[in-house]
Amino acid sequence: MTVAITGASGGLGRRVAELLLNQMLPADLLLLTRTPDDLKDLAKRGVDVRKASFKNPTGLKADLQGVERLLMISADAGPKRLELQRQAVAVAKTAGVEHVVYTSMAQPSSDNPSFVVPDHAATEQALRESGMAWTFLRNNLYAEVAVSAAEAAIRAGKLVTNAGDGGTAYVSRHDCARAAAAVLATDGHEKTAYDITGPQAVTQAELASMVAEVTGESVELVGLPDDAYFDHLLDAGVPQEVADVMSSFGEATREGFLGKVSTDVADLTGKPPAALRDVLERALKR
Ligand SMILES: NC(=O)c1ccc[n+]([C@@H]2O[C@H](COP(=O)([O-])OP(=O)(O)OC[C@H]3O[C@@H](n4cnc5c(N)ncnc54)[C@H](OP(=O)(O)O)[C@@H]3O)[C@@H](O)[C@H]2O)c1
Repeated sequence: MTVAITGASGGLGRRVAELLLNQMLPADLLLLTRTPDDLKDLAKRGVDVRKASFKNPTGLKADLQGVERLLMISADAGPKRLELQRQAVAVAKTAGVEHVVYTSMAQPSSDNPSFVVPDHAATEQALRESGMAWTFLRNNLYAEVAVSAAEAAIRAGKLVTNAGDGGTAYVSRHDCARAAAAVLATDGHEKTAYDITGPQAVTQAELASMVAEVTGESVELVGLPDDAYFDHLLDAGVPQEVADVMSSFGEATREGFLGKVSTDVADLTGKPPAALRDVLERALKR
């Protein structure tokens, strides 16, 4: 069986490819990326690495001939993402792909205020309507996002948030990759949406406490309303489109959309996901 991955040079795609190579022949794996040079090491191991982009549907269609299972990694957020991803779904269908596994987000329902919901919800819908088999990996926020927030908090001496008392079931990128590799390498995942989460939902107050425990540096928790948090991000030099996304994720967290904890990572891989505290410890301990 040929398995292909789009976006294969990204943080997630590369890791999934490396995990698959532990259980598949290199000749059965096709890696599609805008930057093939970044995957030279895997090409040297015998993997077919090709330059491809959602922006080049003709090339993508040619590349996907003979592919049975495709991991379609959501592209970076941007104004054209949904259009490009819908087009990529149509291209996969006409190329004869049988099963698309798509990296979505936690609870992409219309009442979730996160700015990235419309892209993920509509891509899921396009896949449901495509006639191909589909699987959704609804990845919660990466634990690495919490690491970046913790690093910024240590620098500033304060953890600024609009998430209130909401919890986030942070999951490491590595655990997302393990779950994706398990779905790609085994049968029986059609028409299933998996909630890819860490083992617990962590509030921002708990994150601040973990940072203090792990590093010995105390960080003050500063809770702000949405507008003030957005202004705070702009003042800190965050680009407006990123501030929009961050602020909307805080709102979604406060309203409970990121707090669901599932056992899907352990069920799919046979090993529980890493706790946020352990990820922080590895990343921040000096
Ligand atoms: N759960 C979270 O906390 C979280 C956080 C950030 C992002 N995400 C989402 O999850 C995805 C994977 O995460 P990651 O950590 O691997 O992100 P990343 O390292 O930032 O990689 C960005 C990804 O977007 C792909 N991409 C960008 N433009 C593309 C295009 N025109 N056609 C096809 N692919 C394109 C890249 O592929 P190539 O460079 O190989 O072409 C790469 O896989 C992200 O793209 C984003 O949609 C989730």
